[in-house]
Amino acid sequence: MEFPITRMRRTRRTPALRSLVRETHLRSSALIYPLFLCPGEGVRREIGSMPGVFNLSIDEALKEAEEAAALGLGGLLLFGLPETKDELATGAYADDGIVQRGLRAMKQASGLDSLALIADVCLCEYTSHGHCGIVNKSDDSYEIENDSSLELLAKTAVSLAAAGADIVAPSDMMDGRVAAIRDELDEAGYEQIPILSYASKFASAFYGPFREAANSAPQFGDRRSYQMDGANLREAMREIDLDLAEGADMILMKPAMPYLDVIRAARERFDVPIGAYQVSGEYAMLQAAFQRGWLEPERAMMESLISIRRAGADFIVTYFAKDAAKVLG
Ligand code: PBG
Repeated sequence: MEFPITRMRRTRRTPALRSLVRETHLRSSALIYPLFLCPGEGVRREIGSMPGVFNLSIDEALKEAEEAAALGLGGLLLFGLPETKDELATGAYADDGIVQRGLRAMKQASGLDSLALIADVCLCEYTSHGHCGIVNKSDDSYEIENDSSLELLAKTAVSLAAAGADIVAPSDMMDGRVAAIRDELDEAGYEQIPILSYASKFASAFYGPFREAANSAPQFGDRRSYQMDGANLREAMREIDLDLAEGADMILMKPAMPYLDVIRAARERFDVPIGAYQVSGEYAMLQAAFQRGWLEPERAMMESLISIRRAGADFIVTYFAKDAAKVLG
């Protein structure tokens, strides 16, 4: 049926008609808000390249958590800035580590039950060199050791589960970490704690602002020997396959906007919950344009989020979570 019998504009004429035929929807409960926990009290330090995002001491983080719950967000993704860093990332799995303490405080607080508390599992915020695993370094070369890092990652996951994490989310990209974490969690009695694996994580320039927020930039080299090459979609499918075979319950893909095709491919192939992470650089570039008056903030924010949902993500980790929930009402 062609024009003039068919007129696509008929269903676009009014807001009511457009709403009726809208194919993709955003819900506040499918938005996850990242928080960066730091030592101290009353600390609320804005990240230069991420307006509206802060390093928060635990007391301040609790206020954010209350607001997140009141706005109906789905959960929080917790990162930590430890007091000290060392070669073995001891702060990542310390019983009184910064995220562990934050989790306990949130579990004790009332009114936060509607939030899924997701603990990022990685070593880069806790290692003195800023890499996501144990480093074997000589004068002219270095290697991020895979197998020896697994034990520390698994230990970190158990420690975070013990502190009250509802979900653990390994983001390190070591091979075999999901199986190692599943093993240790089960051994420790946390067989009910799901693993949200950052299965498809690309080595990306868009993590730049995060490394300022989490103070986790590598001191030498880069992450290209463990994070994926941005040119590879098929390799991303293999990563997801392997993580699911190792026992991942859900997968997280990142970055989001520059990799919407990869999210779509994963959606068509895997029947597991898929999350996408709209990362720090995606947020920073939109904020920079907002500050200059070059883009309409609310419309551009919502359009960016709906594009990620339309690509196939069930839920979205985003620094816009609170702002978007306010728009959604
Ligand atoms: C830790 C981790 C990173 C991000 C999430 N977990 C940084 C990195 O891999 O360098 C990035 C998130 C963001 O940019 O918002 N490995």
